[in-house]
Amino acid sequence: MRIGVLTGGGDVPGLNAAIRAVVKRAELEYGHSVVGFRNGWKGVCEGLLAPLTREDVRGILPRGGTMLGTARFHPHKHDGGIDAVMSTLEAERVEALVCIGGDGTLKAASKIADAGVKVVGIPKTIDNDVEGTDLSIGFHTAINIATEAIDRLHTTAESHNRVMIVEVMGHTVGWIAVNAGLAGGADLILTPEVPFDIEDVAAFLKRRHKSHANFSIVVVAEGAQPAKGTAMDFETPLNERGAIVAGSIGERLTQEISERTGFDTRLTVLGHVQRGGTPTPTDRILGSRFGVAAVDALSQDKFGVMTALRGENIKLVQLKSIAGKVKAVPEELVEVAQALW
Ligand code: F6P
Repeated sequence: MRIGVLTGGGDVPGLNAAIRAVVKRAELEYGHSVVGFRNGWKGVCEGLLAPLTREDVRGILPRGGTMLGTARFHPHKHDGGIDAVMSTLEAERVEALVCIGGDGTLKAASKIADAGVKVVGIPKTIDNDVEGTDLSIGFHTAINIATEAIDRLHTTAESHNRVMIVEVMGHTVGWIAVNAGLAGGADLILTPEVPFDIEDVAAFLKRRHKSHANFSIVVVAEGAQPAKGTAMDFETPLNERGAIVAGSIGERLTQEISERTGFDTRLTVLGHVQRGGTPTPTDRILGSRFGVAAVDALSQDKFGVMTALRGENIKLVQLKSIAGKVKAVPEELVEVAQALW
């Protein structure tokens, strides 16, 4: 079989581990050949591809980013996009696709599967919001980076008696905010799921500083918003792509907290640092397991599915059943994070 592999959406550490596993499993176990598409679905539409062999993937396991490049491009949202995918696959004799991506890329994968292509998806996103899997590639590295940043901010916050605001990624759900906030011992965690009241935030910080602390760490997800009808009037600004402008909520929150409490307040926007650099062992292992499982699925004629971690095991879930859905942070986890404020 001639298998195409692509990485779409925002990059994450651990993508190269998955690409490497796809290539090695395909060649060594089944004698399949693999081609890599450049820049996600865009490269499929444009016919940008090259053979990928074991030689090509040597040494990429510990490297962040993606050796294939990536793009935020969804063929079903462009006129003739699906036809362009079909004609590249036919012209290049690509019989099956492994699509490594987050919600957008996997939704496109589901549409392409509907059009009759043999597709297996692999979930990746630092946001960890892909439905159907306990973990997506990249999340573990991202919370490590965010936790380390929170640890570092503690010492400078304490030295200067400051409130430190740390803005992390997460446009619709607060997986990074809750997990890194919990692991880093943040005093307040604001997520998109639970709109906040700025007066409660200010009152909490004042109480905390009056009773026992001389500093505070507030973790805020980029998609967090004040509750409607409360004192802070704020609409999350979006860029031309409809995506959140990083730093917006962080800046406004810093200003509000500073004015309402009188505390010296500083902002750190972690931004793309959370997506960069070396993947953790967990992400390398997850990427490798997903890559092997994806090739096994294709070789056993299982298509229109996504590899998923469920407990300790790798399973296959129907792409259709997860496409377009967002995985929420479990209430129990949010409660633990809140209980330790
Ligand atoms: O989808 C992952 C993500 O990391 C989001 O949390 C964030 O809003 C977005 O990517 C930023 O993407 P870009 O690379 O387009 O700035």
